[in-house]
Amino acid sequence: MKNVIESQQFDTATTQKIFDIADRFERQKENCMNGKIMACLFYEPSTRTRFSFESAMIKLGGAVISTENAKEFSSASKGETLEDTIRVVGNYADVIVLRHYEKGAAQKAADVSAVPIINAGDGTGQHPTQALLDLYTIKKELGYIDDISIAMIGDLKNGRTVRSLSYVLGKYNKIKIFFVSPPDLKIGQGIKEYLTRHDVGFSETENMEHVLSQVDVIYQTRIQKERFESAEEYGKYKGKYVLLPEHISKIKNKSIIMHPLP
Ligand code: CP
Repeated sequence: MKNVIESQQFDTATTQKIFDIADRFERQKENCMNGKIMACLFYEPSTRTRFSFESAMIKLGGAVISTENAKEFSSASKGETLEDTIRVVGNYADVIVLRHYEKGAAQKAADVSAVPIINAGDGTGQHPTQALLDLYTIKKELGYIDDISIAMIGDLKNGRTVRSLSYVLGKYNKIKIFFVSPPDLKIGQGIKEYLTRHDVGFSETENMEHVLSQVDVIYQTRIQKERFESAEEYGKYKGKYVLLPEHISKIKNKSIIMHPLP
């Protein structure tokens, strides 16, 4: 696996291998990235993803070069194409972590890159490393991944973390997914077909309260304001799904609540 573009690339054995390495890194300091440089090329805003990549690289002994607003502060502002930027940055770095506003941008970058590309979110496309982190959290908190029920709540049409997590959950056994969203923000048809092919049971509803007591994981997501054409359109859905204390009293004792934030 040279590049990390989409979560379907990960089977359960590879995922477990990554979890084992992550566990080891949590327990002991290693300098395995000594002498390596990671470039973070972020065309869309980020707090967690960029800092977690940079922090990880530094903890592992590597170095970081970074632009946090590449649309404005890279040569994209002078008309340079993404492909040309990737070709150039590949001369300075051993790996490129890319966040971009366009779905498919990570693959476009990988097609021309001499160094590995890691997709840190491509528009409404995918966020595969968030999915690995989410799976790692589920495994740590519940102790297992097979056989879980999960409610994915919010803007499922535009949310890339939900898409990536659904694809990777499709590799596990006896998973049940409840997709909870307004009718206009439903999960895409492509994912539903993928889940059917992988024997994952799923259902769709607009009503969050109906599913809360049935699930092991409540995966909340925000309504993606920046993906709507107008403030008025966004306003129709803003604040639609909010978890309140009265909801918490309905959930299973061992259930966990997750949110990719912000
Ligand atoms: N979860 C996540 O992608 O957060 P950021 O947008 O802050 O990176």
